[in-house]
Amino acid sequence: MRKNIVAGNWKMNTTLAEAQALISEIVHMVQDETTGSPAVEVVVCPPFPFLLPVGKLMPEGGSFHLGAQNCHQKASGAFTGEVSAPMLQSVGCEYVILGHSERRQYFREDDELLSQKLKAALEAGLKPIFCVGETLEAREAGDTFKYIEKQLKDGLFHLSNEEFDQVTVAYEPIWAIGTGKTATSQQAQEVHAFIREQLARAYDAKAALNTSILYGGSCNAQNARELFSQPDVDGGLIGGAALKSRDFTDIIKSF
Ligand code: G3P
Repeated sequence: MRKNIVAGNWKMNTTLAEAQALISEIVHMVQDETTGSPAVEVVVCPPFPFLLPVGKLMPEGGSFHLGAQNCHQKASGAFTGEVSAPMLQSVGCEYVILGHSERRQYFREDDELLSQKLKAALEAGLKPIFCVGETLEAREAGDTFKYIEKQLKDGLFHLSNEEFDQVTVAYEPIWAIGTGKTATSQQAQEVHAFIREQLARAYDAKAALNTSILYGGSCNAQNARELFSQPDVDGGLIGGAALKSRDFTDIIKSF
């Protein structure tokens, strides 16, 4: 179901005390400052060890939802150090980020593995946030659409319509992640519209129109409103700015 979503990807940041302080500040600010504003689903994705304590500080049944930054492709087994989708579901996760460019780059996650992780997440009842995004080289070579089309086809388009209904897509141009160099709203809209077209081809027009497509890559309190005003931008997947309660709240207020 398409909705406005602002998801905070905390990456490998905070200690327990910092995580508890951060989520408490965000909840307090959002509750105080957004009554009567447009409905926004707020997803908070802390590091694994803080899922339970952060989840406990979120208001029950409100606009806050807990997410994880990854999951293993198996439900259980001898995979030392790994975390499964059922484990995430059991501590209150509703969402899981899959295919983030940092996992593709540093942990060699390819689209075949990601297609298995998507299945595992869906089987555990989680809602995947599936990330795609091109390298600077691909953009400069004019291959952005080709690059993203391959990621979608190889990673995402094996799902049934019913499974796909649970998926949110995040467009994160690699050259904009953590760099302070944000895509312009025109660049974001162009790629989001392309992604929605590919979804319509792979599934159907209704599924495409019903899918939330988030922008990620140096989205902040200053540029969020312009980005979110684009017809095919349904919110953001936020990194650095998610670690600052004021900025993250201002992004949530940008619809
Ligand atoms: O997953 C979101 C993240 O990759 C974006 O990071 O710091 O550019 O907002 P940042």
